[in-house]
Amino acid sequence: MTERLTGKQLERAAEILSQGGTVAFPTETVFGLGASCFLPHAIESVFRAKGRPTDNPLIVHLASADQLDALCDSVPEVAYRLIATWTPGPLTMVLKKKANVPYSVTAGLESVAIRFPSHPIARELLKLAKIPVAAPSANRSGRPSGTTWKSVLDDLDGQIDAIVCEDGCSVGVESTVVDLHCDPPRLLRPGAVSFSELQRLLPNIMAMTKEQTAEANSPGLRHRHYQPKARVEIVDRERLIDKAHLGNESTALIGITDCSDLHFALKVICTDVNEYAAKLFEFMREADRKGVNSIWCEQVSDEGVGAALMDRLRRASEPS
Ligand code: TXA
Ligand code: MG
Repeated sequence: MTERLTGKQLERAAEILSQGGTVAFPTETVFGLGASCFLPHAIESVFRAKGRPTDNPLIVHLASADQLDALCDSVPEVAYRLIATWTPGPLTMVLKKKANVPYSVTAGLESVAIRFPSHPIARELLKLAKIPVAAPSANRSGRPSGTTWKSVLDDLDGQIDAIVCEDGCSVGVESTVVDLHCDPPRLLRPGAVSFSELQRLLPNIMAMTKEQTAEANSPGLRHRHYQPKARVEIVDRERLIDKAHLGNESTALIGITDCSDLHFALKVICTDVNEYAAKLFEFMREADRKGVNSIWCEQVSDEGVGAALMDRLRRASEPS
């Protein structure tokens, strides 16, 4: 049985975490599936519940920067500037791990990914739990991340000990991951904190080419990701306007151009790219619930959160 908790029962959620249980909770990006970083059997339960390959490391979530020195060695000065500028918020930093961080969390790597979420529930839970909480996105491996508690339960009900049933994933795509454990630093995963924003503090930061991604030491980048059951097609604005008359009962559409009054099985037109990012994963899941064959996603420019959105769309549209 998965215990349903409200945002007022975070003491109970924290207790479950300290006792080695698994708890799904909202963050400002997507839901996380948390477990105590220091309890190997709890970490095993996370991998088992998700069906996650064990070579894919987890992000450790902290309430405050004071906890950093207990987990990381040789933290570069710039990490503290990134923390001051972007956290709490949707940024993850890969740093050199200390010996006490289990290899089950880092998938055998000498580095550990650290994030300070800003969602009030995540913050309060981390504060009450008093322990670092390892948490991947709360979805079955390979599926779109969960951005509502109902979607998390669709994937994980019965497989996890508890869930905090409050929403509020306002960003909607996973955090930006930046590797500070290598020189020069590298952007491993685009997110709401953009490459050009990072360049201000990390002038020598490198973006990853597709080839580098394939052999990256961020194993998650190699795995199948974000895929709904329906086929995802990225469609540019002109083609969309051209094609819209082909929309039908077995097609779902998301984008920022309202090009047609014609009937789609599901149509989500957003006012801007931020809203598009916030709604994408729930839209994909809703399309699957409706049993559509085909999902059309409008292409947007690779700027700001648009880069993160396009990254997820490209991965979702890769043949599985
Ligand atoms: O927004 C987020 O980051 C969400 C919320 C729950 O915090 N979490 C999330 O976790 O997206 P997950 O497990 O779905 O993705 C973590 C990514 C993976 O691509 C993984 O390979 C990478 O971070 N990662 C974790 N530890 C790493 C490390 N030590 N070195 C390189 N990459 C790492
Ligand atoms: Mg994930």
